[in-house]
Amino acid sequence: MRVLSGIQPSGRLHIGNFFGAMRQHLQLQSEHDCFYFIADFHALTSNPCPADVARHTLDVAMDYLALGLDHEKTVFWRQSDVPEVTELTWLLSCVTPMGLLQRCVSFKEKVAQGLSPNHGLFAYPVLQAADILIYKSDMVPVGADQKQHIEVTRDIAVRFNSSYGEVFTIPKEYIIESVAVVPGTDGQKMSKSYGNTIEMFEPEEDVRKKIMKIVTDSTPVEMPKDPDNCNVFALLELFASQEELTEWENKYRTGGVGYGEAKKRLADLMIEYFSPFRAKRAELESNIDYVKSVLAKGAKRAKAIAVQTLTEARKAVGLEM
Ligand code: ADP
Ligand code: TRP
Repeated sequence: MRVLSGIQPSGRLHIGNFFGAMRQHLQLQSEHDCFYFIADFHALTSNPCPADVARHTLDVAMDYLALGLDHEKTVFWRQSDVPEVTELTWLLSCVTPMGLLQRCVSFKEKVAQGLSPNHGLFAYPVLQAADILIYKSDMVPVGADQKQHIEVTRDIAVRFNSSYGEVFTIPKEYIIESVAVVPGTDGQKMSKSYGNTIEMFEPEEDVRKKIMKIVTDSTPVEMPKDPDNCNVFALLELFASQEELTEWENKYRTGGVGYGEAKKRLADLMIEYFSPFRAKRAELESNIDYVKSVLAKGAKRAKAIAVQTLTEARKAVGLEM
């Protein structure tokens, strides 16, 4: 089964990204033929600072490689290294009804937030469809927020195939059943855009400082606390063993333990969890040329497939003479 997913280069990844997407991407490698890419073309829709585009791409690449992406087995590349995908986007755009894109919730949400949308943001799902279809992907693991974009992809593929012949594989989405949304240090969903993240590989001291600042209520140490409504407990659930978690749950309910103690333990657990990967991350950071070469090699493998599919699609619509 060919599995494909794209990751936007938003900088160093955080534990919400890890538990919500990365961990599942990495697990799928052992059973499937995986294709993962860094979606830098997509990132341009939010007009990032030019100096950040390449840096963020490398950060995401290093995070994935450090955490166990096997670049010999998995094809791992940067989207813009295979520009054939933008040509396919055009061919697909011409069979995509406007209404299909106008119904996309992620676009409507951005507009509702008052963002003045550019055409790239509106057309973003067609580029995503090209990403998926050009590699003839069978399965696309994504978070629930991306489900609609996979439905749009299927719709576009069916329209193209019925007008021009069977060029594309119709992909299935695979909704990553992630743990519940990982809360950030302020209790909202952990997200780069809210500035409430804890990154896997930031300096240990910063991890500790951020964890000590996680927002809690002001229940005094001796009073019982509600583990179901506590940001610290929600994060402990990700890192502690079942046995330890039960102990914390009992301590919360009976009282006598402060949030400070729980935070200290959370920081130790998180640091310990990622420590085996820290050395690898640091080694990659000091050898950026190697990281670039891994992406270049992945792009070569990806491009070979993309060129083939694009040729079929060009022929189907009548562009080949
Ligand atoms: P951010 O909100 O920081 O910009 P992205 O939207 O780029 O993160 O997230 C990439 C993927 O990581 C998402 O599709 C989602 O599955 C996962 N993810 C991000 N934040 C969280 C979170 N707080 N909890 C669970 N999963 C998350
Ligand atoms: N739009 C996805 C996101 O923001 C990233 C992405 C781009 C993607 N192309 C893709 C995901 C193709 C899956 C398949 O998370």
